[in-house]
Amino acid sequence: MEPRGEPAGPITRRDFLVMVLSLTGAFAAVGLLAPIVRYAFPRAKAEVAARVRVASTGQLTPLGDTVDFEYQETPCSLLQLEDGTYAGLSRVCTHLGCIITWEPDNTRFFCPCHAGVFSPTGEVLAGPPPSPLPALKVAVQGEEIWVEGWSPA
Ligand code: FES
Repeated sequence: MEPRGEPAGPITRRDFLVMVLSLTGAFAAVGLLAPIVRYAFPRAKAEVAARVRVASTGQLTPLGDTVDFEYQETPCSLLQLEDGTYAGLSRVCTHLGCIITWEPDNTRFFCPCHAGVFSPTGEVLAGPPPSPLPALKVAVQGEEIWVEGWSPA
């Protein structure tokens, strides 16, 4: 025969309130401490390599298809311009953040959300976007194409 423990009584209103307030306090403490811990141990974009190889020169043709990639958690495209140079651009529309796509037949970037149109170098050509696409610094070394950070706006 098993020993019988004391039967658990119903939770009192006081116990319930103490439990709820303790949990609320614990969540608040985590919410307050998390930014401090993140500040003390940064693992943000600064740690992500600023210089990244994204393509080889043979992958691109003037105003042809883009090479799409992520740079510091931002979807981006690399495009060869008519003069043979390269443009690295964010693919995040400056209107409300939709992802734009390159249309080689129209030689433009197009945002499907509100018909925003950007030039191959990221300038706004039509629609509601308020500013050009953020651009990347692009460097060519031999046959390799690298991005080396964001260009100043
Ligand atoms: S989000 Fe691109 S035009 Fe509105």
